[in-house]
Amino acid sequence: MHISNTAADLATQVSAARSAGKRIALVPTMGALHAGHISLISAARKHADFVVVSIFVNPLQFGAGEDFDRYPRTFEADAEALAAVEVDVLFAPPVDEIYPEEAGGVNAKPTKSAGPVGLVLEGAARPGHFDGMLTVVARLFDLAKPDFAVFGQKDAQQLFLIRRMARADYPALQIVAAPTVREPGGLAMSSRNTYLSEAQHKTAEIIHQGLRAAHNSASSPAAAIQAAQDQWLQFEAGQTLSSEQPEAKLDYVSLVDAETFEPVTESFHGRALMLVAVLVGKTRLIDNIEITF
Ligand code: PAJ
Repeated sequence: MHISNTAADLATQVSAARSAGKRIALVPTMGALHAGHISLISAARKHADFVVVSIFVNPLQFGAGEDFDRYPRTFEADAEALAAVEVDVLFAPPVDEIYPEEAGGVNAKPTKSAGPVGLVLEGAARPGHFDGMLTVVARLFDLAKPDFAVFGQKDAQQLFLIRRMARADYPALQIVAAPTVREPGGLAMSSRNTYLSEAQHKTAEIIHQGLRAAHNSASSPAAAIQAAQDQWLQFEAGQTLSSEQPEAKLDYVSLVDAETFEPVTESFHGRALMLVAVLVGKTRLIDNIEITF
């Protein structure tokens, strides 16, 4: 595996691969890799012969007071895991390769706008997050010039916005969606799970139980929301569940049309996504499930 730290070196690697007739896939990450990330690399391999993985903790998508500084950084272990699955290039740039000093460096302004869908749900809780996320993803697309880019369904709103941007600005690029990888107890894998104590981890498993309950009582949108809420009553109370179980608070639960991200009405028929965000202690966790009505 070749490690690139500069945009110029990445360009050299990618153009050599392209001259050799290879199809190129990009898998953007912020590192602290887990089995969910690794599954994206397997998905990339199904489409492409040359796989580039980026590791870049993007300052533009973190708000003031969020966890940019304490976000887990485990570069050595990440590089080892990527070499083991035969990634071709690991692109791990410093901030000024992505946002040059003259553009403001860590204080660069986003150059992409997520529009109205970027203001709801995760966007409402994290102002500016999706503009910053789209800005870095566009920059990575410009640098790696991939034929395929792979993203996880776990971050459903992110995936929706990237797909929309790609359709408008990168029509030749194919976005590949990969299913959410879960721990044995159902909790969606996330780099932020490392913030959870053992007791908080147990509490967080209820998130997926609620989504499963909704999925299994999908006679109507209201019934699905009710089924999930019944599992999450303990979250909404926002109190300590028992002496062992720490506090958890439901931030939002929403059912949206998977095609438009518009909230569904009671008469909706088609593919919907139930999206949920929960604060377990200070850790914000998101998850979702597809439900067909
Ligand atoms: P990060 O949270 O590191 O996630 C990188 C990719 O892994 C995303 O596409 C995400 O959806 C996917 N992923 C995370 N957990 C997963 C799981 N349990 N199963 C399957 N896929 C999973 O998302 C980001 O980074 C950033 O916003 C990024 C797109 C890299 C832009 O900075």
